[in-house]
Amino acid sequence: MSSLLCCLAPMDWFTDAACRSIFFRIRKQYGNHTKTQYKMRTEFMNADGYLRQPSRIVHHLLSCSDTPYPIVQIYGGNRETLVEACHDICRKYPFFPGIELNIWCPSPSVMSCEAGAGMMKDKAKTLETVKQMSEACATYGMPFSIKTRLGLTSNDKQDQIDFIHRAVPYCSMISVHARTFKQGHSGDVDRETLYQIKEHFGDTITLIGNGGITSRDDMRSKAKNLDGIMIAQAAIANPWIFTPHIPTPQDRYDIIKDHFLLMLGQEHWMNEQKKILTDDPTSVLMMPSTDELRSRWVAVKQSYADQKLFSVLEYRKHLFGYLKTLVWAKDLKVKLATITDPNHVSDALDEFFCKLSVIEMNLSNRWESPIKKILHRSTNLSHTQYSNQKHPHHFRIHLHESSSYTETDTSL
Ligand SMILES: Cc1cc2nc3c(=O)[nH]c(=O)nc-3n(C[C@H](O)[C@H](O)[C@H](O)COP(=O)(O)O)c2cc1C
Repeated sequence: MSSLLCCLAPMDWFTDAACRSIFFRIRKQYGNHTKTQYKMRTEFMNADGYLRQPSRIVHHLLSCSDTPYPIVQIYGGNRETLVEACHDICRKYPFFPGIELNIWCPSPSVMSCEAGAGMMKDKAKTLETVKQMSEACATYGMPFSIKTRLGLTSNDKQDQIDFIHRAVPYCSMISVHARTFKQGHSGDVDRETLYQIKEHFGDTITLIGNGGITSRDDMRSKAKNLDGIMIAQAAIANPWIFTPHIPTPQDRYDIIKDHFLLMLGQEHWMNEQKKILTDDPTSVLMMPSTDELRSRWVAVKQSYADQKLFSVLEYRKHLFGYLKTLVWAKDLKVKLATITDPNHVSDALDEFFCKLSVIEMNLSNRWESPIKKILHRSTNLSHTQYSNQKHPHHFRIHLHESSSYTETDTSL
């Protein structure tokens, strides 16, 4: 295998423009570019909603100008609208690297409109949909792919394998979550079946394996003959997962703050664009660069004091993921669960990481250790007490959100 495709899985309410920018930045910083390629997808987007009210849904397609465009993932239960959505996206946004159909999503709301797993009630009909979508994309030279699973239960796996075989001629790439519908998002992953499908089709299909991969080493050892690996849950709050880099506390702090900053900048920009989005959603697909989003927020943040922002609530799931490995963060999480003012969230994070840096300063580079837990319990410095300490230290806290990469003074 010459080059492994590393794919950040599409995740509804997670892999938005800010999140993808964070992954791209880390990948650029630490990735090994010679042996791997990188692909990202949008969260899935409902084809009917997109055609009916594009201004309400087109935010799924937004990307920062310094982040590569992702593959657009769509879902739907109606062949006509799925095909029409392909035409529309290809015509308006020819710069996307591909369109992907989600098949087998187990969410009840998706299935209720005969989309996702609902499509598999009638495999022949779905195959015809795949064919027509593929033909629509081909008219514009847009690659078309599907993301699917290994059937309803282990009993109908062979049927699903047959379906995948029949879909191969219409797809430039097929991603398979190697679990069944009944398994949801956990449980044993049947990669052997994927290796066999790839063995059978060889270079005629790009096959991506998905399910249960937890690290970069895991990805490399389990890829075998597959063209690529897709990671979802283990990538939540772990943008380093595709790189050999092991994040230090400083790295975590930087990303936690930067991801938040980008989400706030994104929301502020989208609010400003609302009118344009309503009038002409096609004109604004390109968001400003990540640097511009950051500085936008810094310029306006005081005016948002005491305001409730959607991104503060949205960010919690990322933040709690980032803090998951920190046994000391329990109190912080309780506090953050109730704060809605974005500036207070920032302050709470700074305070927490200041305390953490005291511990860091005194201990070896190992991130988790029993002694650290004990020390944390006995270290109850306030921010002021900490700041008054005389120790030089190596843990830089970005108290001023001027720009993401600013190296702030190391002596607080
Ligand atoms: C929170 C969440 C949201 C997801 N959203 C999507 C989605 O929008 N489209 C899709 O095809 N799969 C979606 N999935 C499924 C994942 O892409 C992936 O197939 C599944 O989690 C298995 O991979 P993993 O074992 O690496 O987590 C989602 C999964 C999770 C956990």
